Amino acid sequence: MISKTGVRVKVPASTANLGPGFDTLGMALSLYAWIEIKPAESTVIHLYGDQMKGIPVDKSNLIYEVAQSVFREAGVSVPELEISMYSDIPLTRGLGSSASAIVGALVAANELIGSPLDQSKLFDMATALENHPDNVGASLFGGIITAVWDGAHAQYLRIEPPADLQVLVAIPQFHLATSKARKVLPEQVSLSDAVFNVSRTSLFTAAMAAGRLDLIRAAMQDRLHQPYRAPLVPGMSRILEEAVKHGALGAALSGAGPTLLALTDRRDNRGAELERFLIDVLNEHGITAQTIWLEPCTQGAAVLTIEKSERFIDSIKGEVRA
Ligand code: HSE
Repeated sequence: MISKTGVRVKVPASTANLGPGFDTLGMALSLYAWIEIKPAESTVIHLYGDQMKGIPVDKSNLIYEVAQSVFREAGVSVPELEISMYSDIPLTRGLGSSASAIVGALVAANELIGSPLDQSKLFDMATALENHPDNVGASLFGGIITAVWDGAHAQYLRIEPPADLQVLVAIPQFHLATSKARKVLPEQVSLSDAVFNVSRTSLFTAAMAAGRLDLIRAAMQDRLHQPYRAPLVPGMSRILEEAVKHGALGAALSGAGPTLLALTDRRDNRGAELERFLIDVLNEHGITAQTIWLEPCTQGAAVLTIEKSERFIDSIKGEVRA
């Protein structure tokens, strides 16, 4: 039942919230991490790429721990693992790097032991680890997801991203821990702010399902988290307010930040202007940032075939960004 050759999984990055949908909406993005796990004599962890610096390579490694939680849940013992990981998803920038690692580990470990756990169980486990379903749901299922979490079970609906939707991200060079970006949020909000967000989240979800890109501008507004997080990302308020004047359909803080995300219509040709605007505003505030054009990723975490003769890093070389 346990695969001896191991399992390799490709997982997309994700953006959470999309403005109003705090802890609710997520979208998978065309930036990836690859994770391979194999049974081994003793545990060894290979981490490739610049993103991986400082990540533990012993049994306290997140991938190892998450894989073991799958084995425990399934009542199977695979105590020693060879784990390989490469990621193009920058860490602590609001692009769901930890969610992609959790989802990749869950899917790979489950596949390794013959898939005893179903997708819904994996989603519950991933959400329990992250505490919110938005990033993990997008990485697991792909596309745009709207999800609810009751503390034990997560439910979601997946929406196919409109074909003309494109994504521009501006990734500041500095790190921002999600815990820090959550600490600045108020415990209570006013009824009018709650209504503001409920209405816009609903409109955003319906607009995506109907392919109505023209509604994004009105829908992509938020009063629950972005105003409080703005001081953590200098330049953010201006970008959120003015990106639409430079060709964006709407703009948001990606997850807990610091990455800023603009949605665009690929039929427009103002991409260079928008990119310039994002970079200039951040630079004016003393922040160096990298812009990347991404696509909504329609596929979630996928199990890949391993060719026997191939080394992990050689096999993904053609696909990585670096
Ligand atoms: N919904 C989460 C937040 C995403 O905004 O804090 C961050 O992981």
